[in-house]
Amino acid sequence: MQTQHLRSDIRSLGLVGTLLTLAICLLLAAPSVATTKAVDVEPDPTFAKDVSRIFQEKCQSCHQPGSVAPMSLLTYEQSRPWARSIKRSVESRRMPPWHIDQNVGIRKFKNDRSLTDAQIDTIVRWVDAGAPLGDPADMPEPVEWPDPSAWQLASQFGEPDLIIRSEPFTVPATGQDKWWRPTVDTGLTEERWVKAIEIRPSHPNGRKVVHHVLASLIQEEKGIVGLASTAGDDTTVLPSGRRRSAGLFMEWAVGKVGEVFPDGAGKLMLPDSQIRWEVHYHSYGEEVKDDVVELGVYFYPKDYIPESRTILHLFQGRTGELDIPPGELAVSQGLHVLSAPARLENFQPHMHMRGKAMSLEAIYPTGKRELISMVDNFNWNWHINYVYDEDVAPVLPQGTVLKVTAWHDNRATNPNNPDPEQWVGYGDRTVDEMAHLWVDVTYLEQEQYEDLHAQREAAKKAENESP
Ligand code: HEC
Repeated sequence: MQTQHLRSDIRSLGLVGTLLTLAICLLLAAPSVATTKAVDVEPDPTFAKDVSRIFQEKCQSCHQPGSVAPMSLLTYEQSRPWARSIKRSVESRRMPPWHIDQNVGIRKFKNDRSLTDAQIDTIVRWVDAGAPLGDPADMPEPVEWPDPSAWQLASQFGEPDLIIRSEPFTVPATGQDKWWRPTVDTGLTEERWVKAIEIRPSHPNGRKVVHHVLASLIQEEKGIVGLASTAGDDTTVLPSGRRRSAGLFMEWAVGKVGEVFPDGAGKLMLPDSQIRWEVHYHSYGEEVKDDVVELGVYFYPKDYIPESRTILHLFQGRTGELDIPPGELAVSQGLHVLSAPARLENFQPHMHMRGKAMSLEAIYPTGKRELISMVDNFNWNWHINYVYDEDVAPVLPQGTVLKVTAWHDNRATNPNNPDPEQWVGYGDRTVDEMAHLWVDVTYLEQEQYEDLHAQREAAKKAENESP
């Protein structure tokens, strides 16, 4: 009732009222116009002053001639034509490729290349202002990028101590995907602990045809530390009672460089060991002759024995068969029990074209559950290895259950779906599916675990108490 009256009153005010309101509005508007002007004093971002610095930090490692991206973003002239596309891809967080959900689980990574909200804002405002160059005098010195054909870890460690090569393989111009599986000797004659490893496809042509590489280390082990269930590892018991085991050493896929183990942890290589390669090749329209992939190994000094041993595990995100019906969003899960206390160093989901999301959850022996990581925006073109910062890498007690959940989107609404009418199961081809997680697990002695755990608790407490 009240409002009804009010409305008719307003109406009855008629023209006079309208004019009055207009006048009041103008009056009110006047000072606010002045304030906006004051704020506007902050100039639009320019390429020379602002955007070039962001590109140097977050884009140019890939967007330079001879690297993986289709165009160079080294100079203003090269970047300017892409301004609109750049705005779209940074706003949607499609670029730089970094697909982990930043709002849940562990949020600090050694290799984080994502843009901050402020950086996205700067790029968007730059494009909206017409993508100006600004004053060339503001340009930063160009970055001196390492040779893309060189070992990427060379800037930290120099040339590898040991280089192991796959056998030559000729990739035809067209045809089905190929899996090349030669086994080669490492040539190692003594036990060595490994600090870092890098897999390097040949440059430039190998980069175009190598989809991913697995390098398994075959050697005689006295006993195997590890998990209650570890798919991906296989072991033969020899007459001597020792075991000849093939454990995954390193995985490489587009977007990945190398692995560096934290101080005090490393992988162990034994004498007479071998590398079993699995190189997934796909044709790109031109023949690539005698392609060879290289594995570079950096050792710790001979007399140094790290406290803990790191083992690369494949955690299946399924039990039994993968079953992805046409037109559906399918969920599968796998459980793995830690048979010793451990620290998880990284998170690297592996799925194919219909892969949508993957998460890792820890269920502690106390029943407490914790979401460790979640990639909610998986893109099969990118096999990104999210490497945890040392002070946040999860430290878990013996008996923890690791639960991997994988989501595959076989609906027509998924733009990466090659055929929503197909039933899809497990398989090697990219149109088949997979659901697993690569994690480097560093096994700890109970005492080490307790120390680390106590350190973490103390750090948490200090953080909570600081204002
Ligand atoms: C890890 C490597 C990498 C980084 C870092 C990276 N890009 Fe890219 N970018 C690529 C690759 C590869 C493609 C082509 C395939 C694709 O689109 O996924 C691409 C595509 C693009 C495209 C789309 C081009 C087109 O064809 O429409 C834009 C725009 C772009 N990147 C901008 C950026 C910007 C801006 C940054 C930094 C803020 C950045 N990228 C960081 C590798 C990278």
